This record gives sequence, structure tokens and C-alpha cells, in this order.
Amino acid sequence: MLRRLHPDQPESFAFTAANQAWAEAQVTKYPEGREASAIIPLLWRAQEQVGWLTKPAIEAVADMLGMAHIRALEVATFYFMFQLQPVGSVAHFQICGTLSCMIMGAEDLIAVAKEKIAPNPHELSPDGRFSWEEVECLGSCANAPMAQAGKDYYEDLTSERFGEIIDEMAAGEVPVPGPQNGRYGAEPMSGLTSLTAYESGRTQYNASVALAVGLGDTIKRIDGTEVPLTAPWAAGGRKVHVTAKKAAPKPKVAAAKPAAKPATTPAAQAMGTKPQTLAAPRKTGADDLKRIKGVGPKLEAMLHKLGFFHFDQVAKWTASEVAWVDENLEGFKGRVSRDGWVDQAKILAEGGETAFSSKVKKGGVY
Ligand code: FES
Repeated sequence: MLRRLHPDQPESFAFTAANQAWAEAQVTKYPEGREASAIIPLLWRAQEQVGWLTKPAIEAVADMLGMAHIRALEVATFYFMFQLQPVGSVAHFQICGTLSCMIMGAEDLIAVAKEKIAPNPHELSPDGRFSWEEVECLGSCANAPMAQAGKDYYEDLTSERFGEIIDEMAAGEVPVPGPQNGRYGAEPMSGLTSLTAYESGRTQYNASVALAVGLGDTIKRIDGTEVPLTAPWAAGGRKVHVTAKKAAPKPKVAAAKPAAKPATTPAAQAMGTKPQTLAAPRKTGADDLKRIKGVGPKLEAMLHKLGFFHFDQVAKWTASEVAWVDENLEGFKGRVSRDGWVDQAKILAEGGETAFSSKVKKGGVY
């Protein structure tokens, strides 16, 4: 596919202060003289900030990394994860058209996209909220046909379900990603034929979907409300010298708008909401939180220190509360959503067992 820069470009680009700090920290991952290795995360962040990857953004990233502009342009035009033209402000669908998906109905999905969004790939819908394109294999062949929207995969699609997903997003909802036909993961449609013991201990969603639901950023755009990005490896690391940049004038091309207004102030949402805590365990004694997959002795001690002793406490955490706990687990940030603690805790609080907790019971863990 021919990948060219869009003819209508904004005059300049500058990272927001938060993104600039994050980008500088990314560079510290690499040795002196190898700063260019940070190009993909920086281009990606620039795309997340604007909605698509503009020429000034590519050049600004190249300047920051001490690269010739052509080198950064080579990267940006090579990978189709980089959008070189404005995309729908709500969602840009990347529909896989490779073998498995084609056999399983990718052409039907493309027909839906043509009808509901726009007749041509990379063309904005009349209201500017959606766009689509056909892409090569996205590595979800066992769940074909599939499409990626924002950061997540919608798998096992039918044309009817794909149409509904577009409608749900248009109505301001975020459909749960993952398999759309009732499958848990990539198991046979007729059910598991091996590892059947694990079926009873399943959490509500598979790990990828649980993480996606926990993070809630499927089609969310950078709007200042995100949980601050961290760079734990950078503490005490080499300082990166970055030339100060002037504030960006207003772009000629409208940047993508956030999908929905935040319900709380940016500062409050950045940190999440502190859940209710206890000063000490109830009389019945603390639950063994290590039965939650991802919680070891160190994390359990940390949770006790924060005031969490029982499965039912964890089970009640909302997305905002998960964000707060994730942020406050020093050295283990992001573990709650990564390992789906809330879903596991819901099962354990009701006296059930997950595949992992059964193993703990039998003494097979730690
Ligand atoms: S063929 Fe579609 S994800 Fe691989």
C-alpha cells in the first residue's frame, strides 16, 4: 500500500508537558548514542496526542532524537500502526483482510464499514467520527475475522455484530473487546478438549479483555485525564538534554477530539479514587490475598498497609479505584488491572475458586 504524508498538515507540533517528560524518560532506556531506538514509542505518543501522525510531529521526534528527518519518515511510513492522515475522532477500525480473516468473512466486515462509515478506506465518515482501513494479519487468526479499534481487538466478528459495535461506539458506549461470539479465548467452539480443569476457575474475562476493561482506554484519546505515565527504570538515570520547544500554534487540521467528557476533574481522575479502607482486618481475620493471581507475599503486605485485607474489598473496586490502587503499589504499578484482581476477587469473595487459587490451596504456588 502506498503510504504518503497527508497533503494538509498543521504548522508545528510540540508534546504536552506530560508527554514531553514521558518521552524524555523513554530515551533513557537506551545507551548513549542509541537514542534513535526510542523512535517508535515517541512517534506513537505523538500520534496518541494528536490523533494521527503529522509531518511536524515526525520531524519534532527526529530532532529530539538527533536523527535526520528522512530516517524518522522512513519509520513512520513503514508501519501501518502509524496513521498518516486524520482518522475518525471516535474510532479508526483496522480490519484484518489476511487469509484466516478473509476465509471467515473479512469481506463482509469491509462491506459493513463501507456502508456505515465511508465508501473508501482512510475516508472519514460524514460526521468525522469514524474511519476504517484494511490491514494485514494482526495476529489474532484463531479468532477470525477480527478488527482493531483504538487499543483493542474485537474478535470472532460477524457483519451484524460489527455493525452493532459501530453503533454502540457512535452512541458513546465502549463495547467489551475480545471474542464476540461467546468464546472465552481461542478455544474450540465446541468447548475445551484439554486443560478442562481450568474451566471452572475462569474469571469473567480472559486476561487481555480483563486488562482492556480495567484500563478503559479502548478508544480513549489523550485528553489530560490519563493516569500519569511512569518510567520506573529512569529513577536516578542519565539525564537527557532536550532543547526547549516553543508552544505550538493552532494546527490547520483539527486534532481528534476525546470520545467522551471526563466525569471528574483531570487531577482527580489522574490519580483515581481511593477506595474505602480498613484500619485492621475484621474479627474473622484477613483473607489470604495471595490466592489472587499476581499477589505475592510482598504485595499482600503492601495491600495490608494500604488497608485492604479481604476479597470483598478488592471485588468492589471500580475502574477509578483500580487506577488509584495501581498507582499506589510502589514498584508494582499497574498490577491490579494487568492481572485482573477484581474479577478474581469477586469469585473468591463468594467462596469460589479460580484455577490459580486452587493451586495455592494445594500448596503448588510460592
Ligand atoms: S489473518 Fe486476521 S488476524 Fe491473522
